[in-house]
Amino acid sequence: MESALSRFLVGLSVKISRSDGRVHSATVTSANGDKCTAMVEWYERKICRGKEVGGNAACTQYRAATSLRFLTSTHLMRSRSRPSVAEMNKKEIDVVSVPGQGALLVHEPRQKVDLTKYLDNQAFQFDYSFDESATNDLVYKFTAKPLVQSMFEGGMATCFAYGQTGSGKTHTMGGDFTGKQQNSSKGIYAFAALEVFALLNHRRFSNLDLSVYVSFFEIYNGKVYDLLNKKAKLRVLEDERQQVQVVGLEEVCVSTAEDVVKLIQLGSACRTSGQTSANANSSRSHAVLQVVLRRNDRATTLHGKFSLVDLAGNERGTDVSSNDRNTLVETAEINRSLLALKECIRSLGKNSDHIPFRMSTLTKVLRDSFIGEKSRTCMIAMVSPGMASCEYTMNTLRYADRVKELNSCKQLNRGGNPARDHAYQQKCVSPHFLCVCVI
Ligand SMILES: Nc1ncnc2c1ncn2[C@@H]1O[C@H](COP(=O)(O)OP(=O)(O)OP(=O)(O)O)[C@@H](O)[C@H]1O
Ligand SMILES: [Mg+2]
Repeated sequence: MESALSRFLVGLSVKISRSDGRVHSATVTSANGDKCTAMVEWYERKICRGKEVGGNAACTQYRAATSLRFLTSTHLMRSRSRPSVAEMNKKEIDVVSVPGQGALLVHEPRQKVDLTKYLDNQAFQFDYSFDESATNDLVYKFTAKPLVQSMFEGGMATCFAYGQTGSGKTHTMGGDFTGKQQNSSKGIYAFAALEVFALLNHRRFSNLDLSVYVSFFEIYNGKVYDLLNKKAKLRVLEDERQQVQVVGLEEVCVSTAEDVVKLIQLGSACRTSGQTSANANSSRSHAVLQVVLRRNDRATTLHGKFSLVDLAGNERGTDVSSNDRNTLVETAEINRSLLALKECIRSLGKNSDHIPFRMSTLTKVLRDSFIGEKSRTCMIAMVSPGMASCEYTMNTLRYADRVKELNSCKQLNRGGNPARDHAYQQKCVSPHFLCVCVI
């Protein structure tokens, strides 16, 4: 009984009542089947605290976990509420929880041969993991924000949003939606633009005499379209120095963050979109917003570049309403480019001699952002917490895990010892590649 109970409960996020009347969330760290109790831990002013919660509560949890019925009640309230209408209508159970310290748990519903249902808890470790209470602003602070500075230091930076349809990639990168209207000032694109202008006037960088330029394009079916120039179709060519050029790409000189927001609005409005079961306004292309710093010399020399990429959904092939020729071509192209992206990042991580950039247009146009000593990459893996998305969630998390090659950090640390956990966390964070997961 004890091991079975532990298996179900450990890592779950639960609400606890304190003697002073406060109710807050805590994480189950162990369970005692004989006494029907569980140890829970939480952080209070950066200090880890714990207590044993009593019999009935733990048993109720156990029954809830086995019957799969009450899992949602163990989760935090959603302020980052994902209005996947289908998900809400079906009153879907959440199967993803974030116990803290970058860990993320998927409680995968399984069935034994005798048809008994159980939850298989799968643990993943990322540099940071955010639950539904995280705002775009918070996600930005831990992902793209550090990369903006690296651009001023002469670096090339890339930030990807990766995940299944409806998981919130466009919401996080481009801004909150109200119906079909997107508030472009509330996404990572706009927050990064604000930071760029703040740093431009900072005394540390003001003497560099830099100007800011923006380009915005989409890659659809392997072709590049300029979102700032009436979707002109552009060619991608490699020059004699093996530099990849998007010929004729509009690069607009901007002087305020508001200018950038206007360009984001303009570009987002003409992005190729379609419909999937989880998203009525689904992006069918990869969108790349590039913020470029150039010196104000005669040749407007490139100083640094930041590419912010909102990828197309990774579930293509299974989650499409029609199977016509266009959709099949679209699917094949998306899968190929996501595979190429993974292979390139992994080869870079392994310091391989051969980086397969030419595998797709996406990796070709991002080539210069990947190579070089000063390149920085951040992947934001987005998942939907609902049970129906469990398979896609596992695919996304496995992709992010593989990309990151975090072999030494795969074991989930539930020690609750802040000093040791911090040392552990340090070991996991790679200075060049940051992997963050967002529900
Ligand atoms: N964290 C969130 N909080 C509130 N609403 C969200 C959140 N994430 C997504 N949404 C909403 O869910 C819907 C789908 O999100 P979004 O378009 O960003 O998904 P996506 O990952 O870009 O999907 P696709 O791959 O199909 O383009 C939108 O209406 C969006 O506003
Ligand atoms: Mg999208």
